[in-house]
Amino acid sequence: MEKLEKLKKKRNAIILAHNYQRPEIQDVADFVGDSLALAMKAKETDADVIVFCGVDFMAQSAKIINPDKIVLFPDDTAKCPMAAMVDIDALLHWKKKYGYDIVSYINTTAEVKAISDICCTSANAIKVVRSMPNGIIFVPDENLGKYVKRFVNNEMVLWPGFCPTHLGITKKDVIKLKQKYPNAELLAHPECTEEIIDLANKVASTEGMVKYAKESDAKEFIIASERELCYRMKKEMPQKKFYSIENAVCPTMKKITLEKVVKSLEKMKPEIKLSKEIIEKAIIPLEKMLKIGRD
Ligand code: 13P
Ligand code: SF4
Repeated sequence: MEKLEKLKKKRNAIILAHNYQRPEIQDVADFVGDSLALAMKAKETDADVIVFCGVDFMAQSAKIINPDKIVLFPDDTAKCPMAAMVDIDALLHWKKKYGYDIVSYINTTAEVKAISDICCTSANAIKVVRSMPNGIIFVPDENLGKYVKRFVNNEMVLWPGFCPTHLGITKKDVIKLKQKYPNAELLAHPECTEEIIDLANKVASTEGMVKYAKESDAKEFIIASERELCYRMKKEMPQKKFYSIENAVCPTMKKITLEKVVKSLEKMKPEIKLSKEIIEKAIIPLEKMLKIGRD
């Protein structure tokens, strides 16, 4: 950690970490948040180097927003499987077939963003879709799309993508915890299936769940999302209790380790590299989303 502090100063670097990162990464980060907060932070930082601790699409978004900065991604094999579920040719075929606008969840590659009309995260998906006057092709998370559909009047066709970690959270897991902790409120990420969403007291992005737990009078919460989110919650709200779903782990989020963070700052790699053409196209839907803010 001493080495890391020295390197950070030397490189004028900032460490951004997602809420699902390992506890030790969250502890050394300058900022921990959800995808939207991390993109916003990347936009406002005056550091020369951003060390991004999360998954590929998040680090790529930081680069698209900051093409002149160096974005280090300590393990470039940390790829979100949901973001890899979009086939560009098939998406272009859908666009031709339906004639709708493409709303892409931030969990997409830079190439998909480059052909999208606007991006969204789980923190602003409803507001983003409501801002669109036409029908929508929503890509790639079907569960988030189904959740948004409950609140909007737009015609929506949904890409059949999913998050394996959230899909693995079953009604049985949740009911078991609810029986064990009857006073606990259930907070769920919208990547969960509809049957989990229907049981939840609150559906929100990871940051939205942190905010809700801080403001709620409840003292106990069951978190239907990736397990590590509870680390931040317990740290920031030691007087409250948080119960995670045991097997809800995102393996790619765990690829980044403290050693890899130090090494990336020493060697100044792996670095996110994107073509000028992709950045110029992908920044348009991302900037449109950033102007919209949160739901
Ligand atoms: P948030 O934007 O809510 O942090 O979610 C990102 C993600 O990958 C959830 O699986
Ligand atoms: Fe991707 Fe799911 Fe991991 Fe989020 S939790 S990064 S959607 S695989």
